[in-house]
Amino acid sequence: MEIRTVRPGEYRRAGEIVLAAYRAIPGGTTSDDYAAELVDVAARVGGAEVLVAAVGGTTLLGCVTFVAGPSSPWAEGVEGGEAAIRMLGVDPLAQQRGFGRALVEACVERARSLGREAVLLHTTPWMTAAHRLYERAGFLRVPERDWHPTPSVPLLAYRKPLIRE
Ligand SMILES: CC(C)(COP(=O)(O)OP(=O)(O)OC[C@H]1O[C@@H](n2cnc3c(N)ncnc32)[C@H](O)[C@@H]1OP(=O)(O)O)[C@@H](O)C(=O)NCCC(=O)NCCS
Repeated sequence: MEIRTVRPGEYRRAGEIVLAAYRAIPGGTTSDDYAAELVDVAARVGGAEVLVAAVGGTTLLGCVTFVAGPSSPWAEGVEGGEAAIRMLGVDPLAQQRGFGRALVEACVERARSLGREAVLLHTTPWMTAAHRLYERAGFLRVPERDWHPTPSVPLLAYRKPLIRE
């Protein structure tokens, strides 16, 4: 498996993986507007870094968006010296094989290499597999950073400090 930047010919497949992953969450809900955003990798490669998990060079099985800091158009609730992780998804047929963890670890390493103080992310109450992944990767709940983009979608904040605070 390799974690690398998405290539232009892969935007469609990478976006489809993220959308399929979100749609496969038991008890989950994804609005049509958010589905259109999730699938549109081409739109986010400019202001963020889109990483993929690939096997055999070209078979994509996972995708994540790394937001380098608050000035990115894809930053949501990101402050000061923080980086962020968004739109993580692993092909439902390839889950529980380490791709999600590897994508998160690559984002954390990217944040470290940029000298960021912490990595922030938001998740939903029904993304229980992701909660466990984040907690095992050293992310801590920061309820004071939770927010509701719409009344039916509570977003739970997790943060991993990269320096002693
Ligand atoms: C969350 C997600 C990306 C994990 O990807 P994955 O490749 O299956 O995860 P990994 O195999 O790397 O597992 C890493 C850790 O995640 C947790 N995990 C993964 N799948 C899990 C499941 N079905 N139930 C509980 N924990 C799970 C475990 O803690 C696991 O480590 P452990 O087995 O040592 O405990 C994947 O389930 C997914 O795409 N979910 C839908 C989209 C989503 O929720 N995205 C998060 C957006 S914030």
